[in-house]
Amino acid sequence: MRIKFADLASQNAEIRERVDRELVGIHLNAAYVGGPQVQAFEQEFAAFLGVRHAVSVGSGTDALRLALLAAGVGPGAEVITTPMTFIATAAAIRQAGARPTLVDIDPDTCNLSPRALRRHLEERHRRSPHGPRVIVPVHLYGLPVAMREIQEIAVEFGLRIVEDACQAHGASFHDGRRWRCAGTLGAAGCFSFYPGKNLGGWGDGGAVVTDNDELAERVNLLRDHGRISHYAHQDYGYNSRLDAIQAAVLRAKLERLPGWNRRRREIAESYCELLGAADLELPAEPEGLSSAYHLFAIRSPQRDAIRQALLSKNIECGIHYPVPLHLQPACRDLGYQRGDFPVSERVADTELSLPMHPHLTDAEVRQVAEVVIEALEQRPTIFAGEHGRSPAISTLPPEHGE
Ligand SMILES: Cc1ncc(COP(=O)(O)O)c(C=O)c1O
Repeated sequence: MRIKFADLASQNAEIRERVDRELVGIHLNAAYVGGPQVQAFEQEFAAFLGVRHAVSVGSGTDALRLALLAAGVGPGAEVITTPMTFIATAAAIRQAGARPTLVDIDPDTCNLSPRALRRHLEERHRRSPHGPRVIVPVHLYGLPVAMREIQEIAVEFGLRIVEDACQAHGASFHDGRRWRCAGTLGAAGCFSFYPGKNLGGWGDGGAVVTDNDELAERVNLLRDHGRISHYAHQDYGYNSRLDAIQAAVLRAKLERLPGWNRRRREIAESYCELLGAADLELPAEPEGLSSAYHLFAIRSPQRDAIRQALLSKNIECGIHYPVPLHLQPACRDLGYQRGDFPVSERVADTELSLPMHPHLTDAEVRQVAEVVIEALEQRPTIFAGEHGRSPAISTLPPEHGE
């Protein structure tokens, strides 16, 4: 029997009745783009996160692009992010007319390193006071970035924060006073509803969330052709609107999300217990951060051997990401080289994402862990420096590409 990396069919079985009912209403009203379903979803998602506004858009990439534009990013601007993320983070910065500047990640969390960020900004500031004004921390694998530290630095250096929360629906961090959701601390938080996300539709979708009325209004304008009334357009905007069918699916899944995320955390705990004694790096969850476990990312110099063992037993797995941004052909123009971001490069060479979804059974989790342990026993650890390069990206199943 195949053990799936993600299991959308089981999610659909849980929401089918409700979505079937909503679809009848959508077809009767013939309101396919925007409309009452979309408005209701926006309100429910904002309430779930505890923010004033959730403005739905066409994808996570668009959420980032429109949030950056609304935050004042434009041609010539510099925006800081990390090399260890999906290409869309950098693409959205480019689409806003700006240039991505990369800062390496923390080796424990794989998220933007506050120490490296401070070093980078101090160095930049010495050279010129006209440095970057916006930073895009990415809550990678569902683990929130160390937001308290990042916010302190942002205040000190006058940076606005636009969070890439595309992998972190329902993840949370402690801000010193209370727990709050990832995506709610910066000027804006950006979410993707790509089907495989913790909260995913039946197609593309995304949202910008914010407490800032002006920013929400600007995204609202930009997503709909700059429209201020039916025939009046204040700006050249974009066409990036959520459709009613996606909203109906997302509303039904949002109801289930807290339970599904709890199950992901249980599975993560089981993996950690079962693999605790193995010679592996397991995902860290530092105090004050609570992961949504979009992915369960282990690290080992034996990554390729473990991956082969899993695939040979019909267990799906993924690599996130085998090529860091600075080594992607698309980012050649940024002028970085191999060796510029050693922590990201090491993660790219050693990371493996195990099956993680709320419908995994305990027996499946045990089976995955057994195969990982067996693979490690057959191939004792060698030092990372002796490890060969990653296999080509094209060997990955396409559905795991993001
Ligand atoms: C970290 C990150 N940023 C941005 C995106 C882009 O989202 P979308 O695919 O909805 O455009 C993704 C989606 O995979 C992502 O994982």
